[in-house]
Amino acid sequence: MRKIEIATSATIYKDIFELSSGDAMLMKKAIEARKTAYAPYSKFHVGAALLLENGEIILGNNQESAAYPSGMCAERVAVWKAGSSFPKVKIHALAISASSLIATVDKPVGPCGACRQTLSEYEINQKTPFKVIFMGEIGEIVVTESLLSLLPFSFDNSYL
Ligand code: THU
Repeated sequence: MRKIEIATSATIYKDIFELSSGDAMLMKKAIEARKTAYAPYSKFHVGAALLLENGEIILGNNQESAAYPSGMCAERVAVWKAGSSFPKVKIHALAISASSLIATVDKPVGPCGACRQTLSEYEINQKTPFKVIFMGEIGEIVVTESLLSLLPFSFDNSYL
């Protein structure tokens, strides 16, 4: 047997003012997107903003359903919008922000496991990593240089 270590790294920023101007602009778009989330059940509002290499910014937010599992996360709403409108255009960066009507979200909210899986396929297909920038409503912001760095031992189409 052998043990391995998988290293990943992230940069933590203390707030939006510490981000580069490009990252701050994208995060502001995610914050705006969050405000029109349809989340009457969880009251947890998530916004996602994707910057594409052609300069387009694609927004998404979570959309819930009275049949709870039928809802969808902000990140997948955004990436599927991008994939359907701009199928061959690479993603440069993804920003995510979350807030709640129940309590202040003061920790960074990363994409859920299902979103990581979905997003990873876009990163693999485009053969270029994209930056992921995420925060709650207030507090620190995490920046990673790739989606796959958030998903070690991931499943992909090479297994099929
Ligand atoms: N949610 C997202 O939109 N993105 C995530 O990465 C985590 C969770 C949404 C799904 C659901 O509408 C609400 O947040 C509570 O889980």
